[in-house]
Amino acid sequence: MAAEVISGKDLAREIKEEIAAKVPEYVKEYGRAPHLAVILVGEDPASMSYVKSKGKDAEQVGFRSTTLRLPETTSEEELLEIIAGMNADDELDGVLVQLPLPKHIDEDRVIAAISKEKDVDGFHPLNVAALWQKTECIAPCTPKGVMRMLAKAGINPEGKRAVVIGRSNIVGLPMSKMLLDANATVTVAHSRTKDLPAVTREADILVAAVGRLRFVTADMVKPGAVVIDVGVNRDPADGKLYGDVDYIPVAEKASVITPVPGGVGPMTRACLLENTVECFLRKMNKKN
Ligand code: GUN
Repeated sequence: MAAEVISGKDLAREIKEEIAAKVPEYVKEYGRAPHLAVILVGEDPASMSYVKSKGKDAEQVGFRSTTLRLPETTSEEELLEIIAGMNADDELDGVLVQLPLPKHIDEDRVIAAISKEKDVDGFHPLNVAALWQKTECIAPCTPKGVMRMLAKAGINPEGKRAVVIGRSNIVGLPMSKMLLDANATVTVAHSRTKDLPAVTREADILVAAVGRLRFVTADMVKPGAVVIDVGVNRDPADGKLYGDVDYIPVAEKASVITPVPGGVGPMTRACLLENTVECFLRKMNKKN
């Protein structure tokens, strides 16, 4: 039996339409649209493409959008100075520095330098702490997007066994916390996990965030599982993008699956727009 496919592309379009419909109201009430700034350092092709899409999304929904492309040779001090300027800009609501950064720049220092009120990625240590303490936070876009997709497909994680493969700060760890908060029983698996297939076969909800082409094979999936593919990998054989999941055989076994492209990726971007609105509204409502 073939799995139901959750289209992140369609759901993201709905979310973007909802946001776009509200922007004129924001302009009327607060005098301007939300404003997102994206900074790219260097010329990594994947990052260039992501940054371009983020700017395009922001413009599409009627936000003000600033994209700053800096040379690979930009120093950490220069970048920190730019961020300080953006933090102080009263007409700017969200600041995103595309990762990874060149090796000579300390990523943690840069992330911590972004004002937590403008941290649309939800990567600032205080936003991370707020997520883990269940106080008001800006939630990271990718796991937030995954939770939205599960909700859209009518999947309640409560009581289910969830396995997240990957323990990154960007996806694996916040994903595990959000699933835990939704009352799933969560396992975080990683490169040192022994007998990974035995662990993943326990999963009612399996989230793959490994960054390895077709890493999750059908023998690793329990029949009827919900499979969420966060990976984006280019296959050198055909130059096209594929996920971490060996899609065709896994889709035969799963009950629900997300495609790549058109799955989690567009939802990450839609949630970035939502986070920008959240930062904008908090700022505006603080003023009043
Ligand atoms: N690089 C890969 N994913 C992300 C993300 O969600 N945010 C930023 N800033 N960089 C990334």
